[in-house]
Amino acid sequence: VFEHVVRAPEDPILGVTVAYNKDSSPLKLNLGVGAYRTEEGKPLVLNVVRRAEQMLLNDSSRVKEYLPIVGLADFNKLSAKLILGADSPAIQENRVTTVQCLSGTGSLRVGGEFLARHYHQRTIYIPLPTWGNHPKVFTIAGLSVKTYRYYDPVTRGLNFQGLLEDLGSAPSGAIVLLHACAHNPTGVDPTPQQWEQIRQLIRSKALLPFFDSAYQGFASGNLDADAHSVRLFVADGGECFVAQSYAKNMGLYGERVGALSIVCKSADVASRVESQLKLVIRPMYSNPPIHGASIVATILKDRNMFQEWTIELKAMADRIINMRQQLFDALRSRGTPGDWSHIIKQIGMFTFTGLNSEQVAFITKEYHIYMTSDGRISMAGLSSRTVPHLADAIHAAVTR
Ligand code: LMR
Repeated sequence: VFEHVVRAPEDPILGVTVAYNKDSSPLKLNLGVGAYRTEEGKPLVLNVVRRAEQMLLNDSSRVKEYLPIVGLADFNKLSAKLILGADSPAIQENRVTTVQCLSGTGSLRVGGEFLARHYHQRTIYIPLPTWGNHPKVFTIAGLSVKTYRYYDPVTRGLNFQGLLEDLGSAPSGAIVLLHACAHNPTGVDPTPQQWEQIRQLIRSKALLPFFDSAYQGFASGNLDADAHSVRLFVADGGECFVAQSYAKNMGLYGERVGALSIVCKSADVASRVESQLKLVIRPMYSNPPIHGASIVATILKDRNMFQEWTIELKAMADRIINMRQQLFDALRSRGTPGDWSHIIKQIGMFTFTGLNSEQVAFITKEYHIYMTSDGRISMAGLSSRTVPHLADAIHAAVTR
């Protein structure tokens, strides 16, 4: 009965890892998926995470009961504080509902399904380009996806004029997806002044902002600085959605731990919204897993562990910034044609190199370096040892 089923293509990002795993070359290097690696090229479990896990293991009062549908209460409260700021009036006025979800993707999906059921506008505007999973998540949630101009391939920076024009002509009430910081895949963010202009435009047209915050602390090394855009929108008293992920900033990729916060106009609305979120979650996966959220809550509520986390987080962010400089220097020393300054100007986990899909295919075939076909490379996957190999590959690709 399944003879008619056609083979689906691999995922454009996770499929890169599938191809990488099949390669037997000792030179192979995976810069596809955004996953942090040490200077030795190894995955990293933060010391503070190990310590939290040990504490959880030693606590014999811990049981394996189901969490509530909305997840771990402590985790939800602490997550809202982390992104909105401990002194956020929205939190103090109980206008925020936060539910634990399956990392960033799950938070976006739950938020999308809620909007499809309860919001008067079904259209969501996503930046062009954006993370490849965004259109899929929102389409399957029942929203209609449109794009707004974001990236300018000529300047390799923000197409601010295009962004303002496209959001300016969006229908009133449309939902707008914004990357809170470290835009994926481009590494190009608006300046604080530009964020303020975007905020004014969004509020004047009664558009609904939906932030995807996957890199808080990972872009600049500073948790507050990387939450600036979100806090700007919450400070004006308007509504706002925020999807948070702890995959990158706590290295909890496979634990699938994240949160969806919805900032409402009143405490009463927030509690009614939460009751409906439960109806979205219950038939989807019933309730979320305990382990990852317990690690996060343990770290966020303990002053010393929180401090230790920020130090480890900054070290990861700094290593990525250092890789940017090393790659830029390596291309300059090879005299590689082109202006590569965007490598040091872009921020966060990725560099949007400007390499086209043919050049990417050449680099993968000849140099065994794997990246997404749009030319995005995960800077977090590079090390001082592998930078020269990548620089050689890019040089060969653009001079061939
Ligand atoms: C990425 O963009 O590489 C990450 O967000 C991982 C993923 O799930 O795609």
